[in-house]
Amino acid sequence: MKNKVVLITGGTSGIGLACARAFGQAGARVVITGRDAGRLAAATAELQTAGIDCLAAQADVGDEAAATRAVAETVRAFGQLDVLINNAGLSMRARFQEVDLAVLRQLMQTNFWGTVYSTKAALPHLLASRGSVVGISSIAGYRGLPGRTGYSASKFAMHGFLEALRTELLPQGVHVLLAAPGFTASNIRHSALAADGSAQGESPRDEAAMMSADEVARHVLEAVLHRRRTLTLTAQGRLTVFLNKWLPALTDRLVLRHFEKEG
Ligand SMILES: NC(=O)c1ccc[n+]([C@@H]2O[C@H](COP(=O)([O-])OP(=O)(O)OC[C@H]3O[C@@H](n4cnc5c(N)ncnc54)[C@H](OP(=O)(O)O)[C@@H]3O)[C@@H](O)[C@H]2O)c1
Repeated sequence: MKNKVVLITGGTSGIGLACARAFGQAGARVVITGRDAGRLAAATAELQTAGIDCLAAQADVGDEAAATRAVAETVRAFGQLDVLINNAGLSMRARFQEVDLAVLRQLMQTNFWGTVYSTKAALPHLLASRGSVVGISSIAGYRGLPGRTGYSASKFAMHGFLEALRTELLPQGVHVLLAAPGFTASNIRHSALAADGSAQGESPRDEAAMMSADEVARHVLEAVLHRRRTLTLTAQGRLTVFLNKWLPALTDRLVLRHFEKEG
């Protein structure tokens, strides 16, 4: 990662911040984005204290002009872009029959359109550097999860988009990684949207039992260094993808039983 420039959307918390640490410690110059100025300042200060050459760009990925501006600021500051990590994301927890459709629109805007806007703006620079586009998807991008219709749809959309893009870019040497973490300790369940669009403000799961964001970031760094196509994390996550491929009807029932425990 020496002399490389990495742009990470949603780099103020969880997996994004951990990726900023991992790529920065591996020698990259890092730009992080996020919507909240206070969180951006705190994350940038933490990274700089750890000796990482880091800048922040305040941007909502779901706003095309802002996402484009974040890419332009990165290239203006560091002269190049080698890795774009489409990480910014939002989740939900509500049954479809009760959910306000604005929740699904917001999830598509952030998780899917945010990835599209950032990738579109970054592509000329990634073609020049023969760099990498990373999509931080989820097991929900392989297997729809109850209570997360909009989240699953947004992650499936990311998969279709990035798989098609990878194939288009094969002759030009741009690498595309689809990373699907399993349950990871972070802020994602606190900020997840409830049926009325408010943040649920708590986690219904045991965060301490999950993979750490730092471990996810180490796997993402390795996968970028080895230009892997996919990364699927946690034993439970890999088992879910495997069972869903070969025993889909059984997986319907197993997944329902698992998520019913959340209440
Ligand atoms: N944690 C898990 O269990 C898990 C599992 C699989 C996949 N993932 C995926 O991993 C990614 C990161 O999630 P996380 O778990 O690290 O969550 P997190 O701790 O909530 O971090 C989310 C980050 O995204 C930023 N963000 C949210 N909406 C944004 C927007 N519209 N524009 C720009 N930045 C935005 C947040 O900052 P601001 O709020 O300040 O903007 C924050 O920096 C997501 O794509 C998520 O779907 C997570």
